[in-house]
Amino acid sequence: MHSADSPPAPGWLSVPDDANDLVEAVWPQSAERDASGELRIGGVGVGELARTYGTPLQVIDENEVRRRASVLRAAFDRAATAHGTSARVYYAGKALLTTSIVRWVLDEGLNVDVCTGGELEVALAGGADAGRLGFHGNNKSVAELERAVQVGVGTIIIDSVIEIERLAAIVSRTGASQRVMLRVNSGVHAETHDFLATAHEDQKFGFPLDHAAAAVTRIREVDGLVFTGLHCHIGSQIFGVAGFRESASRVLDLHQQLLEGGEIPQLNLGGGFGIAYTRVDDPTPIADLAEAIVSTVAEGCAARGIPLPDLSFEPGRAIVGNAGVTLYEIGTTKDVTLDSAVRRYVSVDGGMSDNARPALYGAQYSARLASRTGTGEPVLVRVVGKHCESGDIVVDHEYLPADVTPGDLLAVAATGAYCAPLSSNYNHVPRPPIVAVADGVSRVIVRGESIADLLARDAGISQ
Ligand code: LLP
Repeated sequence: MHSADSPPAPGWLSVPDDANDLVEAVWPQSAERDASGELRIGGVGVGELARTYGTPLQVIDENEVRRRASVLRAAFDRAATAHGTSARVYYAGKALLTTSIVRWVLDEGLNVDVCTGGELEVALAGGADAGRLGFHGNNKSVAELERAVQVGVGTIIIDSVIEIERLAAIVSRTGASQRVMLRVNSGVHAETHDFLATAHEDQKFGFPLDHAAAAVTRIREVDGLVFTGLHCHIGSQIFGVAGFRESASRVLDLHQQLLEGGEIPQLNLGGGFGIAYTRVDDPTPIADLAEAIVSTVAEGCAARGIPLPDLSFEPGRAIVGNAGVTLYEIGTTKDVTLDSAVRRYVSVDGGMSDNARPALYGAQYSARLASRTGTGEPVLVRVVGKHCESGDIVVDHEYLPADVTPGDLLAVAATGAYCAPLSSNYNHVPRPPIVAVADGVSRVIVRGESIADLLARDAGISQ
């Protein structure tokens, strides 16, 4: 039984000593409170951001994106060099793709992975040399493949037998030479939410390991297709290393078998590295992860007596996730009496249209009063949006100061990955702008939608 003043908190969430604190692993490094208690990100106060751009607002800390990109690249470089190979890091653009972000990650020495024709165009518009792009997708159209071959995409990751034949027809018609990898499904389940895993045996991506050899034989027969290696991605938001290691050794068995038909210079082991959304999340540090995966491959190759391929990886969330913060204005609060407790609902001016992840995956987030520090005791709240749907939850469980009130700004952390890309216009709510902050300066990198934008596609209006 819960008393009326202690609503049902989940077991993992304890009452914080300070409901205004900013947990280091969750927030961007630049997040701090100024002397008045106002939150600043990238040296810009949230009050100024809200006044300039309105709320809701997707804020991205440019230096945090750059720092994480460069930390990842350095960690995989170091591990690869130590084991006598090289590692390339592709930024998985599906996590958040804008031309500015493309430029930041290219600057930091990364390549970019795209998974649709649309993402390909954004990467190209951002100035990416097509040779530095990898192109994924289980259902790339002929038009998408033609465009990719035409612009010279570095690697196309083949996902089906039908795609091999589509590409064979394109290269034979155009005389182009195209490097390709084959995506395999290692059968390893990632240690994460089922809906996010992409290497279950019963799922749509890649070739089952025992179907891959025939596909590679066919690719090798096609003049104009250059088979460079296998690709495997086991899921997303993965905290441990065991799944990556198991998957790598399974893929190495196949890699060894395929060496009988010719050399294989590369191996791509995908992304999926987890991040902290709440104070209890404890992902493996990147340096340890890199060393664990690279050493598994190096030792596996040594044990099999085969050459060590060049490695590539494709993190998305680990680069942009914690660099993003969403700012909302609180509109209403409401105490809802449960059987034996009271839950405080805090409603903000966005919701599932700008962050569908709680509704889609039961994802947990952390929130803080942002325009000021609160003075009240920590009270368990549920942060909800303004949509006409009871599942419109932004932060399921959080402790905020009890004096939280309409007009306060609320910041939700770690919204940089898969929030804007999954956003919608549900209930005709315009999508918020994306604003980059760095060194005390803010600027719009994707403009927000207006009501005029919402009406613009309605063909009935001008009749
Ligand atoms: N490479 C491939 C082939 C992928 O399919 C993915 C993600 C990645 C790399 C990047 O994974 P990351 O490092 O970001 O975990 N919408 C879901 C996540 C879907 C991930 C799909 N594939 C979410 O909001 O959690």
